[in-house]
Amino acid sequence: MPADSQTTKKVSFTAMDQGTRSEYDLVFAHEASNSQQIADRALGWLEQMEGESPYRISRLEHALQTATRAELDGADQETIVCALLHDIGDVLGPANHSQIAAALLRPYVSEQNYWVVAHHGLFQGYYWFHHYDRDRNARDRFRDNPYYQACVDFCERWDQCSFDPDFPSKPLSHFEPMVRALFAREPREFV
Ligand SMILES: [Fe+2]
Ligand SMILES: [Fe+2]
Repeated sequence: MPADSQTTKKVSFTAMDQGTRSEYDLVFAHEASNSQQIADRALGWLEQMEGESPYRISRLEHALQTATRAELDGADQETIVCALLHDIGDVLGPANHSQIAAALLRPYVSEQNYWVVAHHGLFQGYYWFHHYDRDRNARDRFRDNPYYQACVDFCERWDQCSFDPDFPSKPLSHFEPMVRALFAREPREFV
C-alpha cells in the first residue's frame, strides 16, 4: 500500500464517467505537484545507464559527454538537458529510443528541440547504416524541414563523437539543477 494512501484526499468515483469537475481538479492538482518526481525519475533512468557496454564508455558517460559538448558549444540550458536525455529511451524501448526521449521532453521544450531528439536516431544512421547495407542518407528525406540542419549538427558535433574515454565530461550533479528547472516548467499538454 502506498505510504500516502492514508493522507491523500481521494475522489469518490470508481469509474471516470462518474467524476465531477471538483474531483478532477483534485487529481490534476496532485499531478502538478509531481514535477520534481519526473526529474527524479529522469535522473534515475540516467543512473541506470551506468555499467558495462560494448562501447568504450557507459551509456551514462555518453549522455554526460554529449551534454558537456553541448554546453561547451554555448548551447542554452534547455538544449543541454535535451543532449543529456537524448538516449534515455534506451532504458524503456531501444527499438524507438529517440521517440521515447522526445515524448518525455516535448511538453517542456521547443518544437526544434523536440524534433531533433525525435529524429536523432535516424540522423545518427549517417554514421553506421552503410555497414548494414542501409542508406546512410535516409535522413535526407527531411532536407526541407526547418530543423534538418539542427539535427545534423546535434549528431555531428555532440552525439556521434561522444564515445571517447578520455573526454573530461562534467558529472551528473552539474546537470541536475538544469534537469530540475526544465521539469519544473509549466508543461504544454499533448493528449
Ligand atoms: Fe540515440
Ligand atoms: Fe547518443
